[in-house]
Amino acid sequence: MAKWPISGGDGMSQDERRAYWEGEHADRDYEGVFSISQDEGVIAPCVEAITRRGCRRVIVAGCGSNVALQQAIAQRAPDVESVTGVDFPGVVEVAARRTHDPRIGYVGADIAVDGCGVQGDCVVTINSVLSDLDEENRALLRRFREALPAGGLLAGFFPTIFTPVEFGYLQPDRRMLDQVNLEECRFAEEQQGITQIFYSPLRLRAVLREAGFRLERMEVVFFDSPELADHARTYYRLGDDPDVMAWELFVEAVAA
Ligand SMILES: C[S@@+](CC[C@H](N)C(=O)[O-])C[C@H]1O[C@@H](n2cnc3c(N)ncnc32)[C@H](O)[C@@H]1O
Repeated sequence: MAKWPISGGDGMSQDERRAYWEGEHADRDYEGVFSISQDEGVIAPCVEAITRRGCRRVIVAGCGSNVALQQAIAQRAPDVESVTGVDFPGVVEVAARRTHDPRIGYVGADIAVDGCGVQGDCVVTINSVLSDLDEENRALLRRFREALPAGGLLAGFFPTIFTPVEFGYLQPDRRMLDQVNLEECRFAEEQQGITQIFYSPLRLRAVLREAGFRLERMEVVFFDSPELADHARTYYRLGDDPDVMAWELFVEAVAA
């Protein structure tokens, strides 16, 4: 029995979920999604963790169609021999067309069902464990663990429900609070038209532990580059206050 399970969900089948994400990346060119993996504030901590731990075979799980992170890892982390992006087949098709480095490859898979398809010594994941189905998120993390040896690294960014809570309380009209279900860690994405789970820190720590990871670092990162700050203000209709910006949790965890 999972600890602190979140009941309910969007009712999407795995085929519908796959079709949703393939549509976002292939048909809508990822325009309707808050996207962070191209930003140096996101790339740098991932490259630093991979470099510090001397990782050679990196898996970018839920890589999406933006290839900046895969390219930066291949080019900047000195020990890296291969970078494998894994996502639904229609998504990695788009990414593969945009990548020309022979060290970067792709696997098309439903990770929750089929796993990552390769073994590595590091899994990087950016905003990809946010399904509205708690069990799918937990399955994804178990699959990440299966792709690693004991001691392997999981690094990445996880949204947390406290970001839209804070946005909501800082807005004069508190509009965003209507999109938050704090008890269930659920956020209703206006632009994407779906609900997603953004775990709270203790819950995320427990979910990681149950999936076989020991948390070593969980740190707030503010997305304060001019590009990401602007992106968040427009995407979430946050107004023009320069002190309001998106933030997430940067996590480093080790396969137990
Ligand atoms: C919010 S997007 C983030 C994409 C990318 N990491 C980025 O930051 O640009 C979430 C990604 O996770 C992928 N994803 C979600 N569930 C998945 C699953 N079960 N198997 C494979 N990929 C999945 C989606 O297809 C999507 O590309």
